[in-house]
Amino acid sequence: MEDIRILISEAEIAARVEALAGEIARRSPDDFVIVGLLTGAAMFVADLIRALYRAGARSEIEFMRLASYGLAKESSRDVRLLGDISTDLAGRRVLLVDDIVDTGRSIAYAAALLRQRGVGDLRICALLDKPERREVKISVDFVGFPIGDVFVVGYGTDYAEKYRYLPYIGIVE
Ligand code: IMP
Ligand code: MG
Repeated sequence: MEDIRILISEAEIAARVEALAGEIARRSPDDFVIVGLLTGAAMFVADLIRALYRAGARSEIEFMRLASYGLAKESSRDVRLLGDISTDLAGRRVLLVDDIVDTGRSIAYAAALLRQRGVGDLRICALLDKPERREVKISVDFVGFPIGDVFVVGYGTDYAEKYRYLPYIGIVE
């Protein structure tokens, strides 16, 4: 097994998720629907929704699955929808949540799809943001941690479907 160097510890993630939830709750007073992108954002959404509850916000949860990286470390150019949400979000306030915004293609695709369906208000939240890697213009409203151009694993994020179970964010050495 490869060596993993810890980049963001379990305690650092927990503290940041709590603070982020407070910020989201303050700026989104009304109820909203979280749309998480599978599989990477599953852990983040699970922790975020409970932190939001502690911060006084109640939200529903939906998930969408987009075509993934496959087994590569490079993001694919064309994003496809593999699994859709089951409810009508027209007119609803939505918080789109992903684990990482890298080139921005996935989140931009999901955001365009939701806007096309007439969501009332759309905000974007990502645990990790790699601004140096951006290829499409998209503004992320709530960011957990900005990071550099490194490939990370853990806390939901994977390398060839491995390491999602790690409680921290690490770098494969
Ligand atoms: P984008 O479309 O290039 O922004 O890629 C976003 C998706 O690629 C995220 O939802 C992640 O699942 C995945 N991804 C991007 N960077 C990493 C990484 O460093 N480790 C693991 N997955 C990543
Ligand atoms: Mg993903």
